[in-house]
Amino acid sequence: MGAPAVGIPEDLVAGLRDADTVAVLTGSGISAESGVPTFRDAQTGLWARYDPMQLATPEAFERDPGLVWEWYAWRRELVEKAMPNPGHEALADLERYVTSFSLVTQNVDGLHRRAGSRNVVELHGNIWRSKCSREGVVVEPRADDTEVPPSCPRCAASLRPDVVWFGEALPADALGEAFEAAHSCDLFLSVGTSGLVQPAASLPFEALQAGAVVVEVNPDETPLTRHVQYTLRGSAGTVLPALVDSIR
Ligand code: OAD
Repeated sequence: MGAPAVGIPEDLVAGLRDADTVAVLTGSGISAESGVPTFRDAQTGLWARYDPMQLATPEAFERDPGLVWEWYAWRRELVEKAMPNPGHEALADLERYVTSFSLVTQNVDGLHRRAGSRNVVELHGNIWRSKCSREGVVVEPRADDTEVPPSCPRCAASLRPDVVWFGEALPADALGEAFEAAHSCDLFLSVGTSGLVQPAASLPFEALQAGAVVVEVNPDETPLTRHVQYTLRGSAGTVLPALVDSIR
């Protein structure tokens, strides 16, 4: 057992090694090193003039379903080109070391599962799934449907991405699993999230109240920073592999 990697406190290494139950919350920061812009990064190219906050809403879809569908099609192309990075892979490794491991993500890019993570709770849905805008059921467009957006094969209403938009409720089962994980963990990692959007931003505070050790991994300070026991100030792609290496 060598000395912990640079910047990982010894008592954190011991705490992670002894933890039976670990919960992790990730945000778009963990996908930044895969080339997926964080939610609050400036949009690029054609979409530079649009504010995500104005597009990821039921009102925007109501007003211009084709524009919103095209924006998600652009984001799907971005994500399709992206590969999981060492941060995603380190969390998939960590899951193998820990008795009970929950990975709660705000990201809709599906990169955690592509990296091999198994117990993934997608709080904000998944950009690769579509659902009927009327019935809410997950359904894929017919292969020959060239409409934008395509229509539901069951009821002909427009399809929409199966992601949570601003002002919408989160999937109840995912939310329940996320709070259960925060309440029952020994150690909680908050990685790559600005901690600005509820209810996800409450999860680390729930873990703190339940007596867990909370660790933040972020190159920048967030509203959570001053409350946690450990701040690992750096990028997920560098810090997480070092953290997992320290308990191998
Ligand atoms: P944000 O864009 O708000 O925050 C990204 C965070 O990642 C910031 O704190 C950055 O400092 C940090 N960051 C950037 N690069 C990083 C790196 N390489 N490693 C680690 N951290 C890095 O994205 P989120 O917090 O995920 O919700 O935003 C949460 C939610 O806001 C999104 O899921 C979305 C939006 O409303 C919905 O769409 C419903």
